[in-house]
Amino acid sequence: MLEARRVHKWYNTKKAKLHVLRGISINVQSGELIALLGASGAGKSTLLHILGGLDVPTQGEVLLNGQNLYTIRDTVRASLRNRNIGFVFQFYHLMPEFTALENVMLPGLIAGNGRAAVQDKALRLLSQVGLEKRKTHYPAELSGGEQQRVAIARALINDPGVLLCDEPTGNLDSKTGEKICGILAELHREKTCTIVIATHSERVAAISSRVLSINDGLLAEK
Ligand SMILES: Nc1ncnc2c1ncn2[C@@H]1O[C@H](COP(=O)(O)OP(=O)(O)OP(=O)(O)O)[C@@H](O)[C@H]1O
Ligand SMILES: [Mg+2]
Repeated sequence: MLEARRVHKWYNTKKAKLHVLRGISINVQSGELIALLGASGAGKSTLLHILGGLDVPTQGEVLLNGQNLYTIRDTVRASLRNRNIGFVFQFYHLMPEFTALENVMLPGLIAGNGRAAVQDKALRLLSQVGLEKRKTHYPAELSGGEQQRVAIARALINDPGVLLCDEPTGNLDSKTGEKICGILAELHREKTCTIVIATHSERVAAISSRVLSINDGLLAEK
């Protein structure tokens, strides 16, 4: 359902060419939960962004349900992402001028769903991640872990077929991390979602159906 073919990514920095991904191919099957491990700087975020239609690979291609993500127009890709891909950014990227509730609702409204239904669902998701009491807070009024949980709720508002999470438990205490793992494991169990999670967490690896690791720009099964 989500496939990367011989994906390369390099950056031309002032000093030298930094070749981060060196020909990564991966076929993510429907309903899988993949943990993506690798040292800091190995290229986990880079790969997730490329898989999620957020960053163009220097070479290679990415297909979502057979559709090449980088040969379509930007507006078409944006709409495809909105409807099919939930993305939890490593650094959250919440909109500062909107409350927690509004941030979660936003992709639902962009998708053209009715306000009342979107709000109901956003409230349900916020309650699932334990944040019903923070719904009127702005991002600057939330802790890092709270922002991370708002970002998780936002990623789920449109029932995405694909959920890409960049270290979604990186800022959480062990009990809250457990709760988020529980939500991800349930999505996986119900096969409602195909999930790829960049993580350093053993707990996340333990709930995964496949564990991969990026080393020297290439993927290896663990
Ligand atoms: N725009 C850029 N220009 C130059 N180098 C970059 C750029 N973005 C990322 N890099 C480099 O690419 C490498 C991979 O970065 P990436 O963020 O994918 O790592 P990561 O595996 O997610 O690390 P972490 O676990 O710390 O989040 C890093 O060495 C980083 O310095
Ligand atoms: Mg990263």
